[in-house]
Amino acid sequence: MMIPSVRGTRDILPGEVERWAFVEATARRVFEQYGYFEIRTPIIEREELFSKGTGETTDIVQKEMYAFTDKGGERITLRPEATPSMVRAFVEHALEQAMAVPKLYAIGPMFRYERPQKGRYRQFHQLDVEVFGIADASVDAEVIDLAWSLVSALGISGVDLAINSVGCAACRPAFSAALVAALGDDVGKLCADCQRRAVTNPLRIFDCKVPGDQAVIDALPHSVDYLCGECRQHFDAVRASLDLYRIPYTVSHRLVRGLDYYTRTTFEILSGQIGAQNAILGGGRYDGLVKQLGGPDRVGIGFAAGIERLVLALPEELAVSAPRPDVFVAALGEAARFSSFELLRDLRRAGLNAQIEYEGRSLKSQMKRADRLKAPLVFVLGEDELARGEIGVKHMATSTQESIPRAEAVAYVLRTVGGKR
Ligand code: HAM
Repeated sequence: MMIPSVRGTRDILPGEVERWAFVEATARRVFEQYGYFEIRTPIIEREELFSKGTGETTDIVQKEMYAFTDKGGERITLRPEATPSMVRAFVEHALEQAMAVPKLYAIGPMFRYERPQKGRYRQFHQLDVEVFGIADASVDAEVIDLAWSLVSALGISGVDLAINSVGCAACRPAFSAALVAALGDDVGKLCADCQRRAVTNPLRIFDCKVPGDQAVIDALPHSVDYLCGECRQHFDAVRASLDLYRIPYTVSHRLVRGLDYYTRTTFEILSGQIGAQNAILGGGRYDGLVKQLGGPDRVGIGFAAGIERLVLALPEELAVSAPRPDVFVAALGEAARFSSFELLRDLRRAGLNAQIEYEGRSLKSQMKRADRLKAPLVFVLGEDELARGEIGVKHMATSTQESIPRAEAVAYVLRTVGGKR
């Protein structure tokens, strides 16, 4: 019996994978344009990196981690997100000293045991950027501008930017207390998760998706009304910069984001075209996280975009091409067939994409293969051509044919495809 793939995972097949490659190449170009350097961190990490980093009271840590005890008895997890790994690498390798500006990006798979649906998977892929050590609001605006530029470089339209400020360690307690006070006796009407959240981390109540809870949650106080003077100033400065960049946004009071480390600025870009899982990217500032994870007291900010969701949101008409041959080599007869592999080698050594049919089938089926591969040119090598030191050339688009000297074969293809490469 066939063994199917694991629920919530997907094969990215030829035909779709070109769109992924386009997203990744565009992201690299835009990130590097903004001064970010690539980093690659492991897929497995110690579980405590996320229980401490992402936060004990988050859904990710409580319900969604692929955590296990390895053969050496260590608690390990597949990473559910990149930020704590990036912080770990920043601290472990003292990147603050090693880099002129610690601006990092990473591309790779993440794992969360969520209920799969369109745009939501158990293995999904993120483009992640993080910048460390800069507290000024200008960097918040730059990170949001980077996210905006990425979306626009991908040709994605119909998106909205939502921002919020969740305050800092100084003003958060007053906001948490206000939430609990506003809930009052209504706490008993909320779902079991929210009743627990009200005790452990009232801010997490905003993550609730239970329909019956939403009316109560919508009426809760707004974090921006509880900001301390410095957080208020910071938020105003971020907004002023966004206006300067002419990036439209709305302030969304429920945008506290489902991870515990955020301070001050949080943001998301939402698409109206990809269904219920509409957040194509999200991020924010995390000024206490580096210290929390055992590093120096350094601030940080970043975002992550879901590649699956970006690919869903790409314009339908986007032309991304699969690789196709420059030339297909067809051969008839044993001697010609043997010689055709030498021709194939010469074409490939010259950097051309050259393909062949391996099993000595009929010329008709070789031509059919060339057609399916969308080769614009076919070289035909038979016993006659071999004897004359020539090659027959067929132009597939026009069905025109000619003969050329074998010695000129490589130059001929280079000339023909030259303009198109
Ligand atoms: P996040 O909001 O959990 O943030 O994830 C960021 C993005 O990853 C989402 O907006 C979405 O596009 C994608 N994503 C998340 N879960 C799934 C899933 N199950 N299936 C498909 N796509 C998904 C973070 O992960 C933070 N580390 C972002 C960050 C970086 N904050 C600061 N720096």
